[in-house]
Amino acid sequence: MRQAGRYLPEYRAVRARHSFLEVCKTPSLALEVSLQPFLALGMDAVIVFSDILIPAEAMGLPIHFGDGGPELPEKIRGQGDVDRLRDFDPERDTRFLLDAISELSRSLGPEVPVLGFAAAPWTLACYMVDGGGHAGFPHTKRMLRAQPELFHQLLRHIARNTARYLQAQIASGASAVQLFDTWAGELSRHDYDAFELPALQELLTHLNPGDTPVIYYSKSSNHLLESAARSGVTVLSVDWRVDLHELRAMLLERTNRLWPLQGNVDPAVLYSPEAAIRAAAHSALSETSGRAHILNLGHGILPDVEVGAARAFIEAGQMRLHDLPAEDAGPAPAVAPISTGNP
Ligand code: CP3
Repeated sequence: MRQAGRYLPEYRAVRARHSFLEVCKTPSLALEVSLQPFLALGMDAVIVFSDILIPAEAMGLPIHFGDGGPELPEKIRGQGDVDRLRDFDPERDTRFLLDAISELSRSLGPEVPVLGFAAAPWTLACYMVDGGGHAGFPHTKRMLRAQPELFHQLLRHIARNTARYLQAQIASGASAVQLFDTWAGELSRHDYDAFELPALQELLTHLNPGDTPVIYYSKSSNHLLESAARSGVTVLSVDWRVDLHELRAMLLERTNRLWPLQGNVDPAVLYSPEAAIRAAAHSALSETSGRAHILNLGHGILPDVEVGAARAFIEAGQMRLHDLPAEDAGPAPAVAPISTGNP
């Protein structure tokens, strides 16, 4: 979750010289900032530096990153706007990202997984229709209610393009891909099942990831996770509102599978003294006994946390895994049984 960023002085130094989009679109700079958190903190996997809005631009919508967050001035509001969206070719239109991924996997070697990513359809639609991160996404919800067929068409367009985009990232060396559905929690279960779930299923069918894990992050989504487990993703990544033990028990009962989980420490925990940070990491791990669990924050790291706090979190997780008695720990995470596809 946002490994690179403003909490790192070396990131701020790069950003003092280059705009955010310039960093995304220059493979040598994207490589440099992708490696910064790994070198500073030593996490077990590295996510490539980019943004979920890059495909919106490749589909024809210009994006701007100002101090108030991202803006898309050419918003999607009607049939003509959806019809004008391009099908993009990742190899041609987002070559910079694929080059950054192949450079990254070459420099890290086979021991360190590189993660690619994209937005989930609903979350990208929120930005494309509302034109930015606007509270409640009123225009997106208006389109969903007033023009449901058009909204399905938009989600399908995003899903098909995202499938090709992630396929290209996997072909360039990504060991796993992550789908960010940051705004899933805006939807009721009924609307999620009617709109986002079929879009995710279409994305996964087109992607056809084989053995490559697909991690699905959703925020404020406790009411949606049983549905999300029917989407075809491999790992559920959740925020700090979720009890991992209860989630795993519920999913085991409903799907008859032990679900790999990612998360879910509150990013604000990194404002605590180091002992409390370590306790929070251990507490999250104890909810799963460290089994098939990717320890992570429950959302992106905040820009003003101390680097030492992030390091304490990572070290606590790594130490705890090694400390767990063999019978509690289950199989080592690298060889945890991860089943793919629909139950
Ligand atoms: O972890 C990494 O290093 C990978 C890079 C990454 C970024 N954005 C870089 C970024 C990833 C995985 C994302 C995902 C992303 N982007 C999401 C989904 C995850 C989440 O956090 O909810 C969303 C919703 C976006 C859209 C976006 N991009 C927003 C809302 C913002 C502004 C927020 C902010 O903190 O300023 C961005 C900008 C952005 N994307 C930054 C970074 C490091 C900060 C840009 C800067 O000023 O340098």
